[in-house]
Amino acid sequence: MANVAVVGSQWGDEGKGKFVDWLSERADVIVRFQGGHNAGHTLVIDGVVYKLALLPSGIVRPGKLSVIGNGVVIDPWHLRDEIAGLTARDVRITRDELRIAENATLILPLHRELDQLRENAAGAGKIGTTGRGIGPAYEDKVGRRAIRVMDLAAPETLPDKINRLLVHHNALRKGLGEPLIDGGKLLAELKEIAPSVLPYMDTVWLLLDAKRRAGKRILFEGAQGALLDIDHGTYPFVTSSNTVAGQAATGSGLGPGAVHYVLGITKAYTTRVGSGPFPSELSDETGERMGARGKEFGTNTGRKRRCGWFDAALVRQTVKTSGINGIVLTKIDVLDGFEQLKICTGYTLDGKPIGHLPAGQFEQARAVPVYETMPGWSGTTRGARSWAQLPAACIKYIKRIEELIEAPVAMLSTSPERADTILVTDPFAD
Ligand code: GDP
Ligand code: IMO
Ligand code: MG
Repeated sequence: MANVAVVGSQWGDEGKGKFVDWLSERADVIVRFQGGHNAGHTLVIDGVVYKLALLPSGIVRPGKLSVIGNGVVIDPWHLRDEIAGLTARDVRITRDELRIAENATLILPLHRELDQLRENAAGAGKIGTTGRGIGPAYEDKVGRRAIRVMDLAAPETLPDKINRLLVHHNALRKGLGEPLIDGGKLLAELKEIAPSVLPYMDTVWLLLDAKRRAGKRILFEGAQGALLDIDHGTYPFVTSSNTVAGQAATGSGLGPGAVHYVLGITKAYTTRVGSGPFPSELSDETGERMGARGKEFGTNTGRKRRCGWFDAALVRQTVKTSGINGIVLTKIDVLDGFEQLKICTGYTLDGKPIGHLPAGQFEQARAVPVYETMPGWSGTTRGARSWAQLPAACIKYIKRIEELIEAPVAMLSTSPERADTILVTDPFAD
């Protein structure tokens, strides 16, 4: 029985939500394994739009089990509100539909504040985070002082854990000239929110092992994209978790053999939200046109996304770092009507050709893209559901991308609607 991991192969917002939803019809369990409510995943089902941040995209489909794994950082107040928002839209969310790992780390209000304080103080050097406290929460996890989901079930242990946490945070806040956190107030807040989280708490690694043994299909839902990975991304302009497919196992408590097919969601051009290098960025009218046609505004923060040509060198790199078996090429319709299309095939660094983006921040900033140019197409691909409906120049563009990234197109997406999809290879097929 095949299990599939869906990951972003660029800087996020490639259309993961649509394809997790599409595939969830064939899956039994949908698992988030990293990130938190910095994600913004959009699903359009028969014209109805759902925007999910923390909850797995399978949650809107009745009869599926959604799981938040140990690799995720959870803001319990956000969790409560996201559940309430969906419940108000008649999505049923009980323990039958949702489980949360007991060993997942909590995002606290002090993390959100610290994230925002740092960003505001960083000036031109800011990362452009979502301001949700993601980085500071992961720092506390690795620093071995985090409060975890299971701690909410043992309130008598919380005062010691809060003290340990505040030794670190209050020293930091003192240095920043910020008022100190009152441990008693934080304790009261945690006790108050606990009943919104605890009904879903479970030993997720055990649950997932049982599902595997019972022959259930597991779909792993990645957030962000490989270029935002803490190790493999454009450091330091990255998020604070591993976003590559290998994390699907670690972030859910299964071994590496649990993932049988890695599906890399890939936009037919490139976007990025936040700061950091972007070699094929278009800071001109063509980039504006792409952004307007693609409605490139953040699902979560509403920020305008930077746009540029398809960077095949970068995706070739993430095909390797995530072990991508096949891609979904999304938003091909956005390129309808462009007279010509450029594809970045590599770079030059100080005049020397290189096939991949170097790891160093300053080398990345100096990398100059090398392009090849292809003719665009005048017809429309919007809503196409078969290859026969695609203009010849569009098929050539897709074939060239496949060659350059060294991975096949498994699916093609021609609009936000789930049904506007062309299936080439079923990732769930054994
Ligand atoms: P995610 O973070 O990877 O789930 O992606 P987002 O939801 O943040 O952003 C992708 C946006 O593109 C959403 O608004 C989707 O509804 C939309 N979208 C997905 N696939 C397509 C497509 O093939 N064509 C067009 N025009 N829009 C798409
Ligand atoms: P989805 O799952 C695009 C970016 C932020 C910032 C950097 C660090 O919708 O694809 P963080 O708040 O994580 O510390 O911010 O990462 N970022 C995303 N960009 N899509 C996302 O998620 C993102 N999640 C974080 O803009 O540059
Ligand atoms: Mg998004």
